[in-house]
Amino acid sequence: MTKILMVCLGNICRSPLAEGILKSKVFGFKTIVDSAGTGEYHKGEKPDKRSISIAKKKNIDITGQSARKFLIEDFDKFDLIYVMDNSNYENVIALARNEDDKSKVKLILNEIFPNENLDIPDPYYGGSFGFKNVYNMLDEACDIIAKKINSNG
Ligand code: 4NP
Repeated sequence: MTKILMVCLGNICRSPLAEGILKSKVFGFKTIVDSAGTGEYHKGEKPDKRSISIAKKKNIDITGQSARKFLIEDFDKFDLIYVMDNSNYENVIALARNEDDKSKVKLILNEIFPNENLDIPDPYYGGSFGFKNVYNMLDEACDIIAKKINSNG
């Protein structure tokens, strides 16, 4: 069983999409996928309607998700913690208790562009074009992540 946590700032735009997209590509019996935010402004809220809408166009339903904050215990609960940008990376690494915790944290775009440390841009203050872009980047990254999980025992 591989346990994966997707992390962004608000847990309403990027990481809910990453969660929904990855869930659509992996075998459920082999994988747990969840998401969280480093901030708490949107606790308990459903994903942003622009994220819900772009996911729906691809037949992915993310309306059941509810925003929550990243917790220290998440280092114990998950094998891999994919962060959306370098700011999320700094925020999560700052909470790590040891090297083992730190080694679980990865920038999601490094799956497509290894070692380039690129950001999935925060689409919150932009229009729907930003969400389409975010979706396409996450779709490609999640394809790579899913292939690794699905071929792994
Ligand atoms: P997310 O986007 O990190 O992709 O969920 C954001 C959502 C809300 C805020 C910032 C980013 N905010 O400042 O409220």
